[in-house]
Amino acid sequence: MGRTMRTPIIAGNWKLNKTVSEAVALTSELKELVEGTDGVEIVVAPTFTALHAVSNSIKDSNVLLAAQDVYWEDSGAYTGEVSAPMLKDVGCDYVIIGHSERRQYFGETNETVNQKVKTALSHNLKPIVCVGEQLEERESGQTESIIKDHITGGTSGLTADALLSCVIAYEPVWAIGTGKTATPEQAQEVHQFIRNLLRDNFSDEVASQVRIQYGGSVKPENAAELMAQPDVDGALVGGASLQAESFAQIVKNTI
Ligand code: PGA
Repeated sequence: MGRTMRTPIIAGNWKLNKTVSEAVALTSELKELVEGTDGVEIVVAPTFTALHAVSNSIKDSNVLLAAQDVYWEDSGAYTGEVSAPMLKDVGCDYVIIGHSERRQYFGETNETVNQKVKTALSHNLKPIVCVGEQLEERESGQTESIIKDHITGGTSGLTADALLSCVIAYEPVWAIGTGKTATPEQAQEVHQFIRNLLRDNFSDEVASQVRIQYGGSVKPENAAELMAQPDVDGALVGGASLQAESFAQIVKNTI
């Protein structure tokens, strides 16, 4: 079973950017630019404060909503957190989990990623599970062992069926926000490694159906050659998703 089974997914991770009005303006522009584009799933991930307004703005469009994180309890005394039922309530379909910035600055571990993934799935939110090695890890030949740890730890205890609702995002940390994209060959090599791991840990069906996005300095100019790789099924885009035109161009260069 080849790539044709898998609809590519392009997700814009807006990180800590955009007020509510800026988020709505960006969304309105994007909606128009991608109207009628099919064969690719288009997702935006605003900050928590803009989710509700963006959710209203994308009704009746082909743009879907993601959150950038989620907590694993549904409610209670957890000051500052936002739960899966709340994200569902506001109209999210997806949630980004385990982004390298959360691992680096906010104490996210494979264990907390795993708890969040399980909670998201139990509320019908599709996790975008981020994995990726740092520069020192790549240079010391540890890329595969780090990726294996992230994947195995993050998806531990999940059934094959549950995995089918997940998206994996391979984001080499050295390529995030640096302008240094992985070459298409480097991306393909790790994506294939991840797919083989999913085959070993779960099943052939999971390996052939789960989408694996690439992330790290994706731009309109490099999107097409990355997306042309057989195991690259879309992109998680940071900087270039903050402008409607560049994000829409990445979407168009995918199909
Ligand atoms: P970037 O970020 O496109 O700005 O490199 C990607 C990401 O962190 O998801």
